[in-house]
Amino acid sequence: MNDIDLSPKEFNLFRDYIYEKVGIALSDQKSTLVKGRLNKRLRQLGFDNFRAYYDYLVHDQSGDELALFVSAISTNVTSFFRETAQWKWLETYLPQMISAKREKKIRIWSAGCSSGEEPYTILMFLQQHLKDFESWDIKIIATDISEKVLKKAISGIYDATQVEALPKNTVIHAFEKIRINNIAHYQIVPSLREKVMFRTYNLVTDRFIFKNHFDMIFCRNVMIYFDDITRLEVIRRFTTVLPKGAPLFFGSSESLTTHRESLKLIGSSIYQRL
Ligand SMILES: C[S@@+](CC[C@H](N)C(=O)[O-])C[C@H]1O[C@@H](n2cnc3c(N)ncnc32)[C@H](O)[C@@H]1O
Repeated sequence: MNDIDLSPKEFNLFRDYIYEKVGIALSDQKSTLVKGRLNKRLRQLGFDNFRAYYDYLVHDQSGDELALFVSAISTNVTSFFRETAQWKWLETYLPQMISAKREKKIRIWSAGCSSGEEPYTILMFLQQHLKDFESWDIKIIATDISEKVLKKAISGIYDATQVEALPKNTVIHAFEKIRINNIAHYQIVPSLREKVMFRTYNLVTDRFIFKNHFDMIFCRNVMIYFDDITRLEVIRRFTTVLPKGAPLFFGSSESLTTHRESLKLIGSSIYQRL
């Protein structure tokens, strides 16, 4: 079966729409990627040209098609304990943060959490390093634009190979073994799952709904596709809910060239609110 063609004019329509809605700036070179990744979706929906699919996309009020489009052209790749250096850094930061607290309350935002490995890693980390973990009031707010990945995140179910690569002690405390269609899987234990609030949230276009301060924010490997203006605005919003001294984590390949007056580099892609 031949691929459905994407003309430069059609590509421009998608480019403008995606930039406006998600802040992702698609270069001309991305035309082949959009065409390749979306062809299957067009056939599923019964379209034989990209213009018809474009109309469908912009008229979809639910936002589901937009999320699907973004998933198709970007990546949801994630893993437990990703960016080792940052977890090492947290080992020394955590006691400091805890001793400065008046209440036994921790609030953390995992922005662009994908299928949940990041927010659950935060909990596993706290479980391992926080004395009296159970007596703390801990909530992780985990958001992503894609409902599909959030469904997986909410289930807390992961492949055995992925989980068995983790230290045994972590697995014992954070997972229970289950069988699905007679295949072994692992599910995050309910006592950890209930500490995460998963929500669909578009970092670029949704109204900023957060008012209370977070002890830290993770936004790792999310803004790689955003252009400078969008990145600037998203980071500015983060700084409004980060108290002085609190850390903001990016992916190791992401660096910050602006906001120097409000954020200072203190570790491997870790910035501190000034
Ligand atoms: C590569 S994953 C990163 C997951 C995790 N933070 C990590 O570092 O392992 C990027 C995630 O960002 C989400 N994303 C992309 N654009 C977004 C936007 N505008 N608002 C919210 N989430 C977005 C994607 O759906 C995807 O799940």
